Amino acid sequence: MSVRSKSSKAWLNEHVNDHYVHMAQKDGYRARAAYKLLEINEKDKLIKPGTVLADLGSAPGSWSQVAAELAGEKGRVFALDILPMDEIQGVSFIQGDFREETVLAEFEALLGNRPLDLVICDMAPNMSGNAVTDQARSYYLCELALDFAVNHLKPGGNFLVKVFQGAGYQEYMAAMREAFAVVQTRKPQASRNRSSEIYLLAKNKR
Ligand SMILES: C[S@@+](CC[C@H](N)C(=O)[O-])C[C@H]1O[C@@H](n2cnc3c(N)ncnc32)[C@H](O)[C@@H]1O
Repeated sequence: MSVRSKSSKAWLNEHVNDHYVHMAQKDGYRARAAYKLLEINEKDKLIKPGTVLADLGSAPGSWSQVAAELAGEKGRVFALDILPMDEIQGVSFIQGDFREETVLAEFEALLGNRPLDLVICDMAPNMSGNAVTDQARSYYLCELALDFAVNHLKPGGNFLVKVFQGAGYQEYMAAMREAFAVVQTRKPQASRNRSSEIYLLAKNKR
């Protein structure tokens, strides 16, 4: 068996046997990632009834589903992804590349000057296979998300972002600390141990 088919078989086995994949199917979430946000929210109470938030890199939509449920009718969820996303009640969605000025402007028009309580960002670029390039692309998206959060959060607002540990991590944490009173790390159980992904939670925008 080729290495490629061995590793895709391993991936398929892991996926099929994955507890969170089963739970997501049962609970009606579009991705297992839902449980990462649910676990973080359980601890940090980021989303409550009435919370107004932006979800960057939202497709297929499990974080937006969770966010819309928790924010309720008085809250609002604004979501964006380069890929299409099926409709979710209570979520306003724009399809576009967050790196493009015109897409950012369209998203900002959708927000209509509403200050946000929270920005959540699970964006991850398509992996090219070149670790250095992938890491740099990932941090570029995270930097854009941080800029967006700083510009659109209310004072006291919070920002949750997925990053990959490695080059750029310390510098990114330092940039977050300049804009927020507290920066913490979160590694929810649904995030696979072997993945270098970790969530950074910046609380209380200055
Ligand atoms: C891990 S997935 C997000 C999963 C989502 N949180 C959920 O629960 O369904 C990462 C997303 O980032 C999006 N993404 C990557 N680069 C992007 C970009 N430049 N602009 C907008 N979205 C982007 C991808 O299309 C992908 O849907």
